Amino acid sequence: MSKLKVGLIGYGLIGKAIHESLEGSSAEVFIFDIATMNQPNFFHTDITSHEALAATILELNKKNIKLDSIVNCSYPRTKSYGKKLEDVTIDSFNENVSIHLGGYFNVMKQFGAYFKALGKGSIVSFSSVYGINAPRFDIYEKENFTMPVEYAAIKSAVIHLNKYMASYFKGSNVRFNVLSPGGVFSNHEDSFVQSYGKYSLSSRGGMLDPQDLTGAIKFLVSDESKFVNGQNLIVDDGWTL
Ligand SMILES: NC(=O)c1ccc[n+]([C@@H]2O[C@H](COP(=O)([O-])OP(=O)(O)OC[C@H]3O[C@@H](n4cnc5c(N)ncnc54)[C@H](O)[C@@H]3O)[C@@H](O)[C@H]2O)c1
Repeated sequence: MSKLKVGLIGYGLIGKAIHESLEGSSAEVFIFDIATMNQPNFFHTDITSHEALAATILELNKKNIKLDSIVNCSYPRTKSYGKKLEDVTIDSFNENVSIHLGGYFNVMKQFGAYFKALGKGSIVSFSSVYGINAPRFDIYEKENFTMPVEYAAIKSAVIHLNKYMASYFKGSNVRFNVLSPGGVFSNHEDSFVQSYGKYSLSSRGGMLDPQDLTGAIKFLVSDESKFVNGQNLIVDDGWTL
């Protein structure tokens, strides 16, 4: 059987783990990122720009690379992102919604058309537990960071945008799904991991590792999930219950 060709947008904390897991198994991975990376099959792009993404798709077509799926785990954000509510200006809010949600829209719209032309495809977009549940502000009480208000707006909208696209592309053999992870460990203080972990259900507790998400991605990009469409798969160790 020929290898799946997977386009991975965002080679960050989670993207790297997905790359490692897919490359090591049944797929050939093509990396897309706004930061320049010294990686094989790397394409420089910017999901916030219609022109940049269109040029990337043109490049794929010129090279006769026919992707089977796209996984969008990019995380566009501005320097002013991440402040507590009182300090978030409307301009900063709007800009972050524009680049993150707008970027995800751009990917779904343009790669939706790309896969429709190919006759088949699967698009996986990243949301978060914070696209589903209200924040648990108690776990941030002792921290110097918070759960940003823009993130709630963006990630909840990604889940509904995904349903819109799945419905819009009905009959074209293009699937749209969302993966919503819980918090992924990245050098967080022990105190935060413990506070966060109070709501995890497994005996391991704490936060997820990026590798905990790769099984769900393998499922969503493959034909094993061919009748899963317009859905939001939550991988959070029961945190949202
Ligand atoms: N890390 C977590 O705890 C967590 C939890 C739940 C959901 N998520 C979601 O998972 C996704 C990945 O998170 P992460 O922690 O790996 O992020 P990250 O910041 O480590 O990596 C994001 C990548 O996206 C790239 N990127 C940013 N703007 C871009 C643009 N305009 N065009 C193309 N590439 C761009 C960055 O260069 C970077 O390589 C995000 O959507 C995030 O909201 C993360």
